[in-house]
Order: sequence, then structure tokens, then C-alpha cells
Amino acid sequence: MKVLITGGAGFIGSHFVEFFLREYPESTVVNLDGLTYAAHPDTVSRLGHLGGSRYHFYKMDIGDPQVAQVLKSHQIDAVINFAAETHVDRSILDPQAFVRTNILGTQNLLQVARKAGNLRFVHVSTDEVYGSLEPQDPTFTEQTSLSPNSPYAASKAGADLLALASHRTYQQDILITRCTNNYGPYQFPEKLLPLIIANALEDKSIPVYGDGKQVRDWIYVEDHCRGIDAVLRKGKSGEVYNISSSAEVLNLEMIKKTLGLLKKPESLITFVGDRPAHDRRYGLNPEKIKKELGWKPKYSLEQGLQLTVEWYQQNRSWWEKVRDKEYFKYYQANYQPKGSKTGEVMS
Ligand code: NAD
Ligand code: TYD
Repeated sequence: MKVLITGGAGFIGSHFVEFFLREYPESTVVNLDGLTYAAHPDTVSRLGHLGGSRYHFYKMDIGDPQVAQVLKSHQIDAVINFAAETHVDRSILDPQAFVRTNILGTQNLLQVARKAGNLRFVHVSTDEVYGSLEPQDPTFTEQTSLSPNSPYAASKAGADLLALASHRTYQQDILITRCTNNYGPYQFPEKLLPLIIANALEDKSIPVYGDGKQVRDWIYVEDHCRGIDAVLRKGKSGEVYNISSSAEVLNLEMIKKTLGLLKKPESLITFVGDRPAHDRRYGLNPEKIKKELGWKPKYSLEQGLQLTVEWYQQNRSWWEKVRDKEYFKYYQANYQPKGSKTGEVMS
């Protein structure tokens, strides 16, 4: 199989590239990525070494019509779309970038994949499109209506709807996966888990938004990759598949678990202002992918967390390289400790 993977220089996409090259020795992977801040400068060369002649890289925006030429010249069989702006806090500061990539960029990909001969198209989406749950609510199923609360979630929901509309209108071969919060090696240190680990390793405070009682449903990144692969190979066209390890944890509990593994004190925890429209709880029902495609997670939260913590301990230079950047300091400055003069809520 020859696949085009977009966003393959980012966190989950790069794991998927590795997974695919390893799992399918006959395959060819074309990685197309615009290399935004979220793509670590070392990832492209690392994947290049791994893939050798079975791997090709294009620095290109997913909104570029030239993507059509890439599909044609490599005779691509399927497209897996990971490329996106992904961080909720950034979407609050700059929603335009999210609309540009997540909606307009995805629409361009849908169109070029259809015109290239109705290529199988897996669109990688998120549980955040469903909105927020109350503590006693049942978990989201694929039938739950979309109710996004952040510009990030709204832009992902827009892309999902365009993908489903393309299936209905043009009978395009499209599948959507919606996954929970991923964690694992190579995640950019602005997301909660790598941020906690990196800050703790540097004995810096851990910013907890609001009361820290929000719930997230955590999955080890490799389990997500195997879920996407199952959907690519066995999924039914036009269907949505939720992917979850059913590991719902309070943010504060997750932070304490991680500090415990790192043997760092809980006194590093610092409550800061809350994220606007902060979703209270995410929880996904994965019964469909389990029953219909035979997928199940391999990693428990304890196993995945241990592996992740060890990786960040052993690969300090990887995250130090991107934490030094000016943009990161700017972003961090938006959340201030409670009671500080600069205010409590991000503006
Ligand atoms: P990431 O932010 O780590 O990486 C995104 C990648 O996309 C980067 O390499 C970036 O350079 C690239 N990119 C961004 N805009 C682009 C554009 N216009 N053209 C080409 N490339 C562009 O993201 P991630 O965490 O790996 O997430 C990958 C996908 O999985 C996203 O679609 C996201 O919505 C979805 N998802 C993520 C999570 C999670 O917990 N991280 C959970 C569920 C779903
Ligand atoms: P995040 O990793 O941004 O993922 P998402 O918002 O997409 O779920 O955040 C996970 C949770 O952790 C979310 O409830 C916000 C919270 N959070 C903090 O409390 N402090 C932080 O510094 C960050 C980045 C997130």
C-alpha cells in the first residue's frame, strides 16, 4: 500500500509513520507536512533514516492544490489526514489559523483525493467535537450530536461534516476516527502531560487551570495508531469510529500520578486562571471499533504513563530544544497564578 500521511512530522502522525513502516514492510509512506511550530526540527530527518527508500517527505500545506501532483506522482492508494492546528489554548488566541488548516485545508485534501480516483480517505478527528459531559452522563457514542465549545473543536467538527458531506454527495470513500487525549513520546511540551513532566524535571511549577477537576480520557499514542490502521483496512466507508482506552482521570489526579512517578513534590502544583469555555469532561464509548473491527488497547494507563515519563527523562534534549523558543514563553505568559496582578483568565 502507498499512503499519503499528512501531519506526519507532528506527534501522532510521526508515530503513525513509524508504525506503518515497521508493520508493513512492503508499504511506501509519503509524509506531507507544512512544518509549523508543532513539528519538531529533528522529526523529518529521524523518519527519513527509518524509512530509507520507502519514505518520501514534502514540506507542503494541506491547503495547497499541488497536493494533487504528489498523489499522482506516487500513485497513492489512501490518504490519512493528521495535519491540523491542535492546541485549544492557541485556538482561543488565533482561531483563524484553525479555520485555515482544519477546515479549508481538509476540504482541499478531500477534493484532490476524490479527483485522484476516489482514494480511501481516513480523517483523524477528536472527541472534542462532541462537547462536554457532566459527571454522571453516559460516554459519547458515534451517534451523539456535535456540540463543540472551543474554536479548535469547532474547526474539527467543521472538517468532519465536510468529510461526511463528501461521502454522501460524491460517494467518496471516507472514514472518520474520533479519539480521546493521546499521550506518549514526542508530544510537543505545550500539552498537559509533556508540560507536567518537563516542568517537574526542571523543578518549575505545574499550572493547573481552574479547579483541576476536569476529566480527560487518556490513550497511549500507539493504541491510537493501531485503531486508525484498523479503520483504514477494515472500516466501512462513510462511518465514524470512536477510539478510547476508557481511562477517564481527573486532571489533578493525572498530575499527582505523574509527579509520583517522577518522585517530585506535589508542592509544584499551582492553580492558575481557567481556560475560557473549559470542557468539564470527555469520555468516549469505543464499543463500535471493538465489536466491528476487533481493535482493543494494549496499554493500561499505568504502563503508558511509565513509558512516557521514562522517555522524557531520557530525551531531555528533544524537549529542551523546543521549550527555549520565544513563542513558548509568550504562550505560557497567558496563564497567571491565581491572585497575581495580571489577572486570572487568559485574555
Ligand atoms: P500536532 O500538533 O503534534 O501535529 C500537527 C502536525 O500537522 C504538525 O507536524 C504540523 O506541522 C502539521 N500541520 C499543521 N498545519 C498544517 C498545514 N496547514 N499543512 C500541513 N501540515 C500542517 O498534532 P497531533 O497531536 O499529532 O494531532 C494529530 C491529529 O490528531 C490532529 O488532527 C488532531 O486533531 C487529532 N487528535 C489529536 C489528539 C491529541 O490528544 N493530540 C486527540 C484526538 C485527535
Ligand atoms: P490539553 O493537553 O491542552 O488537552 P485538551 O484541552 O485538548 O484536552 O489539556 C488537557 C487538560 O489539562 C485540559 O483540561 C486543560 C488542562 N491543562 C491544565 O490544567 N494546565 C495546563 O498547563 C495545560 C496545558 C492543560
